[in-house]
Amino acid sequence: MGNYADEINRRRTFAIISHPDAGKTTLTEKFLLYGGAINLAGSVKGKATARHAVSDWMEIEKERGISVTSSVLQFQYDGFCINILDTPGHQDFSEDTYRTLMAADSAVMVIDASKGVEAQTRKLFKVCVMRKIPIFTFINKMDRDANDTFELLDEIEKELGIATCPINWPIGSGKGFKGVYERETRSVITYSDTEKGTKEGHATRIPIDEEDTLLSYIGAEAKDKLTDEIELLDGASAEYDLDSIRAGELTPVFFGSALTNFGVEIFLQHFLKMTTTPLPRKADTGLIDPVENEFSAFVFKIQANMNKAHRDRIAFMRICSGKYESSMEVKHVQGNKVMRLSQPQQIMADERKILTEAYAGDIIGVFDPGIFSIGDTLCMPKDQFMYEGIPTFAPEHFARVRQLDTMKRKQFVKGITQIAQEGAIQIFQEFNTGMEEIIVGVVGVLQFDVLKYRLENEYNVEIRLENLPYEYIRWIENKEIDLDRLTGTSDMKKIKDLKGDPLLLFVNQWSIGMTVERNEGLSLSEFGRN
Ligand code: G4P
Repeated sequence: MGNYADEINRRRTFAIISHPDAGKTTLTEKFLLYGGAINLAGSVKGKATARHAVSDWMEIEKERGISVTSSVLQFQYDGFCINILDTPGHQDFSEDTYRTLMAADSAVMVIDASKGVEAQTRKLFKVCVMRKIPIFTFINKMDRDANDTFELLDEIEKELGIATCPINWPIGSGKGFKGVYERETRSVITYSDTEKGTKEGHATRIPIDEEDTLLSYIGAEAKDKLTDEIELLDGASAEYDLDSIRAGELTPVFFGSALTNFGVEIFLQHFLKMTTTPLPRKADTGLIDPVENEFSAFVFKIQANMNKAHRDRIAFMRICSGKYESSMEVKHVQGNKVMRLSQPQQIMADERKILTEAYAGDIIGVFDPGIFSIGDTLCMPKDQFMYEGIPTFAPEHFARVRQLDTMKRKQFVKGITQIAQEGAIQIFQEFNTGMEEIIVGVVGVLQFDVLKYRLENEYNVEIRLENLPYEYIRWIENKEIDLDRLTGTSDMKKIKDLKGDPLLLFVNQWSIGMTVERNEGLSLSEFGRN
């Protein structure tokens, strides 16, 4: 065991997920209030300034005022060193959003109290479930009129299939929001909206049995309702169980208002008690322990063109074990090469800081001369193991790509293949032909624009995209299925990936069901294997 056990054990690495506008950015900003932020990513700046503040990695980002890339930030709180991985949203939703979750040990799910579970949360949630990582729910915007609390919890349970355990309970909402009742301490923490931008701490805490004080703060009506609800809650909700939380089977639920900075520190304190230290990770030789093992990491994201002048690629890796020290020699397992990581840096949108050391749980970005692929393993030169690959996530938008100038065939194939290797898009071929017909699949439609833009600017190739009506792709799990004899619905399309593995495209869920029904033994998967 290295002498860095303490450093590793105080690390907590989580991803923050939500549907756009639920308040992820605002909540992240408030987290930073509580700990001196060591490093700030551009994406946590307010939306109004975002247009100017975010990176200039790609023109497209500037034009649209969005950040195509996810970012990471680190802050200290109460002796912990916390890494937050931001997941990009909106139409810039891409496979990177999913992959970010592969690098986190837990997820914080932000839900808008007046909207409940929304589409994007649902998608990201599936990946958390697949990885069985703990999920913490923060129900935000309680200062606005909210849906009924029991209904919100019911919706999470039904829609996402996870049991809920409220850690605190809201008293009213909107203009009538009075605060939260904390179940563990049986006390009410009163709401005040005057603490925007400051650390909370002025909030008053009243034990539930101090009736008179409580009445004077929240009034009789709210108090009666609270008493009834607590009774119902204690009888009906799942019991607090840390093992189930850590297994991702039970989500602790918190209520608050990120904008007015209410409930944020309460969340942080409980969260840090429940979440885990960096988790061991599966490799082909078995589990790699973060503390017992020396340095190892895996690449979960590759970002091209972060700096236009240098046309560089940065590989982002999650350190899984041990300590990284500057100019240390490491082995790139897939390339079977011992190397020094070049310019390792803490990744920031518009700030980069060269690192001298980093520990399991941390994310670093290194200059990539084109040797890394998503899922690659790095370890000490004397070690030899590979981390489990990162699954390929199902694209939901497809288009046929045509190059306008057929003379530029070579550049076209090179460009599109490289961009696919970086993981920004997935490329497929018609089932019975070769590279002459390329079908591109993306998780978010913005990736189509990114592809077009990059092919033009980096490879000097103009393309036309013709949208295809498919929305669902399925990998065939049982390889013995005879594809020529497979019968599907008339709108089903057979394609293959670059390895020649067959896949199916569908227009709707119904066709998937019909196809499975018609072909005995056919097993389809939403996640591909690398
Ligand atoms: P996102 O990152 O999840 O997309 O959401 P973001 O934090 O940007 O919040 C979206 C909008 O919701 C913002 O308003 C933000 O101020 C507001 N908001 C966030 N948390 C709360 C909350 O607890 N209560 C209330 N009432 N509003 C909240 P905006 O007007 O769209 O943006 P801005 O111009 O204020 O930045």
